[in-house]
Amino acid sequence: MDNYIKDRFSVASAASLSVGEDDKYRFTAADLVRGRYGDKTPLAYVHTYGCQGNVSDSEYLKGMLRDAGFGFCSSPVDADLVLFNTCAVREHAQDRVFGNIGALKPLKEKNRSLIIIVCGCMTQQPGVVEKISKSYDFVDIVFGTGVMKKFYGFLCRALSGHKVRETAGPGSTVEEGVPTFRDRDFKVWLPVMYGCDNFCSYCIVPYVRGRERSREPERVLEDARSLVSSGAKDITLLGQNVNSYGKGLDCGVGFPELLSRVCAVEGDFRVRFMTSHPKDCSTALLESMASNPKAAKHLHLPVQSGSNRILRLMNRGYDRERYLSLIREARSMMPDLSITSDIIVGFPGETEEDFQDTLSLVEEVGFTSLYTFIYSPRSGTRAAKMPDPVTHEEKAERMKRLCSLQESIARSRSVTYVGKRFRVLAEKWSGGRIEGRAEGNYIISFAGDESEIGSYTDVEVTSAGNYTLEGKAV
Ligand code: SAH
Ligand code: SF4
Ligand code: F3S
Repeated sequence: MDNYIKDRFSVASAASLSVGEDDKYRFTAADLVRGRYGDKTPLAYVHTYGCQGNVSDSEYLKGMLRDAGFGFCSSPVDADLVLFNTCAVREHAQDRVFGNIGALKPLKEKNRSLIIIVCGCMTQQPGVVEKISKSYDFVDIVFGTGVMKKFYGFLCRALSGHKVRETAGPGSTVEEGVPTFRDRDFKVWLPVMYGCDNFCSYCIVPYVRGRERSREPERVLEDARSLVSSGAKDITLLGQNVNSYGKGLDCGVGFPELLSRVCAVEGDFRVRFMTSHPKDCSTALLESMASNPKAAKHLHLPVQSGSNRILRLMNRGYDRERYLSLIREARSMMPDLSITSDIIVGFPGETEEDFQDTLSLVEEVGFTSLYTFIYSPRSGTRAAKMPDPVTHEEKAERMKRLCSLQESIARSRSVTYVGKRFRVLAEKWSGGRIEGRAEGNYIISFAGDESEIGSYTDVEVTSAGNYTLEGKAV
């Protein structure tokens, strides 16, 4: 794994690694690619929908594609292979995927050897594989989450003219020893666990991602060391519920300890994590954050609703009072802590009174920023069967009120940053200006050179908008 991250373009370094039984397909895939495309490097277009977990999976899939001999392009029109890594969390996400698959049909008609692949969470839902086979039969490979290591084998079958349809059972294993291709080395995702056991009543993730599986701490640390040595400055530890990391492992390492161990890796970098579930967010985790200078003082703690009645129906396992007391505890340990959250508006049966409870919670906490979603029924979940008398118009109107409250909170918070200094990691550059992020995940822009991307600069904030701050390097 180390070799892969350090030297991700080198097929030679792959020879010393083992990915088990599927390994034998690695070289066959590369041979088949050479056989089909000769001296030309074929191009793959990879599009990722959904969360950072999916972005991280796509990095593995791109690693395997690179290994098999593919380069990458930014449009399906130029591609020899198109891969959609899909999301099923809301209906809108899923509709978009079907629309985009449909749009590939003319490309396939023009170029019969174009390989089309659809994978990820959406394909794990009942009926989706069948729907693709029936209505989009030009798709060559469909595979689910948790069977990623078989990807070389799937490629071999498609390159030999066969169709592939394969999804995973809920007990699928942890992916280890898979090569990685990252678009950037300085800000990286590092999965520590897969799956989810929480079954929040609205959520499809436990059904499409299977049960919780944690990676061995030593594997996570090997990756962390390797990432830091190849320039990582901002590492986000990933899992649907990182606080339950370690369940089922024999080593007795929980998430607070894992966070401390990653922070102990030598180098100048920050560590973030997501997502942290309020039900399992412990004092030990907050202590680990507070005592490790490399742990970013940023906590993403999705509350979903401020109403105890709705939180119960959501099966979230905490109430408003517990959430607010966690926030107080966290702030008493880390006064500058930046807190962000997710909120669902219009859960089945949400009344105006329930919604008012959400608004008052948002006001009381004063989040840095919020990710807000209108409830989307997911077939197979418990909430999808609950009566839902509130109209979409009413839900959209509540959403507007929530967003405008959050905007005013963000605005009054931002002005307090004017004159303050932050250490900013430069992420993007355009027209002489750099956009980067401070420890609290605030976006700050300042004049600078493209060569500064991936490095830290001390910046003094000179003016404030709702969500972005402007500053100058000091
Ligand atoms: N594991 C994370 C969330 C992963 S999904 C957690 O528990 O916090 C990311 C966000 O999508 C959720 O926090 C929730 O706000 C939103 N979401 C999930 N299912 C949804 C649905 N059916 N409708 C609308 N939003 C949903
Ligand atoms: Fe979904 Fe709840 Fe699991 Fe998050 S914790 S992924 S919202 S079931
Ligand atoms: Fe979507 Fe799957 Fe992530 S459903 S939010 S891509 S875990």
